Amino acid sequence: MGRDGHARHLLGLDGMDRGVLEELLEEAERLRPVASGREPALRRLAGRIVANLFFEDSTRTRCSFTIAAKRLGAETVDVTTAGSSISKGESLLDTALTLEAMGVAGLVVRSPGSGTPHRIAGVVACPVINAGDGRHEHPTQGLLDILTLRQRLGSVTGRTVAIVGDVANSRVARSALFGLTVMGADVLLVGPPTLVPRDMAEISAGPGRVTVGHDLDAVLDRVDAIMTLRIQKERQTGEEIPPDYRQRYGLTIERARRLRPDAIVLHPGPMNRGVEIDSEVADDPGRSVIVRQVSNGVAIRMAVLARCLG
Ligand code: NCD
Repeated sequence: MGRDGHARHLLGLDGMDRGVLEELLEEAERLRPVASGREPALRRLAGRIVANLFFEDSTRTRCSFTIAAKRLGAETVDVTTAGSSISKGESLLDTALTLEAMGVAGLVVRSPGSGTPHRIAGVVACPVINAGDGRHEHPTQGLLDILTLRQRLGSVTGRTVAIVGDVANSRVARSALFGLTVMGADVLLVGPPTLVPRDMAEISAGPGRVTVGHDLDAVLDRVDAIMTLRIQKERQTGEEIPPDYRQRYGLTIERARRLRPDAIVLHPGPMNRGVEIDSEVADDPGRSVIVRQVSNGVAIRMAVLARCLG
């Protein structure tokens, strides 16, 4: 999160220094009572309007950015592909410039194309927050994953987190990987060779290490947390998903029993129950922090909006 002209953007966790990451996590922790609605909304962004530009479908991210903005006292306006002039062929850059001309305080951008928020940040003067761009990054998801891990594990430094499944297509995995390794966690990327290419081991931000593996059963008893990813059929081109995927990489109840007693289970949602994760595991209150990830998403997005727009 750097300064670009006058605007403070959040485009990715790649290159973010640990100090900024820690500040965002601590601010999100302080904001949790407001994020959850237990304490009344703040006025920190009163009188400002946040535009949500969602050029790809979303439930969690879009709603939680809206709730986060409202809890900071801001108002929101939603632009989606259907129902806007994008369906008439207007470009995403022109759409962003149009909203900026109406005086919005910042743009939250989700798009199927990697790099779209970066291109928008290059033409507008207001802050741009990346809410997921193609296969590239999803920084607020990475932050909420780390916040959730910290709450349950105390600290992520020196911990081992397995990210399992469709890593190649996952912006969630990339952002988590940058954030976790900067914070000193080791990351194991596990999945079929078609979905977890070897060269992904090279993208550690350090000091944490990244290891690529293809045998989930071999790592179950040595991880502090396991993050299963959705099979992103919409980003695949052909034969990437092996027919025995669930058998080899599904987080089944049998596999969950082989995790350490205190190991936790994450999933960014939306879940394909019975494919990458069994319902008994996803709904196990002892291990699963999936619902907590969603709640933490509001607090993280409040912290990010307050920092970028405040
Ligand atoms: C993810 C996304 O859209 O990148 N969902 C989310 O934001 N929580 C993951 C996914 O779609 O599989």
